[in-house]
Amino acid sequence: MAEEMIIRIAEPQDADSLRKLINETIDTCYFRVYPQEAIDYFKDYHNRANIVNDILEGHCLILASEEEFIGTGTLFGSNARRVFVKPKYQNMGLGKKIMYGLEEKAVEKGVRIMNLDASLVAYPFYRALGYETQAEDVIPVKNGQSLRYYKMVKKLGNQ
Ligand SMILES: CC(C)(COP(=O)(O)OP(=O)(O)OC[C@H]1O[C@@H](n2cnc3c(N)ncnc32)[C@H](O)[C@@H]1OP(=O)(O)O)[C@@H](O)C(=O)NCCC(=O)NCCS
Repeated sequence: MAEEMIIRIAEPQDADSLRKLINETIDTCYFRVYPQEAIDYFKDYHNRANIVNDILEGHCLILASEEEFIGTGTLFGSNARRVFVKPKYQNMGLGKKIMYGLEEKAVEKGVRIMNLDASLVAYPFYRALGYETQAEDVIPVKNGQSLRYYKMVKKLGNQ
């Protein structure tokens, strides 16, 4: 890839740009799979306050070029969350780079089993990274629609 990329820890002032990256990625990637009500739920879940809280309380990584934010992911305790790669940069190994960064931090903190909630869109990605399915779950959203996702885990320390 021609562009120089850096990976760094997020700061609270990054929250608005992160939210923009997350919302754009949700809009582009989820509409084929989820009803609009589920998409609205996801976007509300990734609101500014939750992003700022995770930046302050968790380990939030940003992958960026000089021009823009390209990807992000957060470790909160043993939970990996808010992992997104901007659509035009997907399938280049960047999501994996972010997840390995989170797993490395988790190992450093003594986490033995990493857990996450996988959207239907991200499920094959997490399976490719060695996460196992614990359960399928459904959140009821507006207008009688539902949001289906998977609870996944991975034993750390042998990658
Ligand atoms: C899911 C996501 C983070 C993956 O990031 P990415 O940079 O595209 O993934 P990578 O290129 O690092 O892929 C890593 C591995 O997963 C596999 N993979 C990724 N997406 C896949 C898919 N849809 N189906 C099958 N395999 C997939 C890749 O083939 C690769 O396998 P390899 O290591 O054997 O080569 C990114 O596509 C994304 O942001 N999607 C939309 C948002 C989302 O759902 N985020 C997660 C919230 S739970």
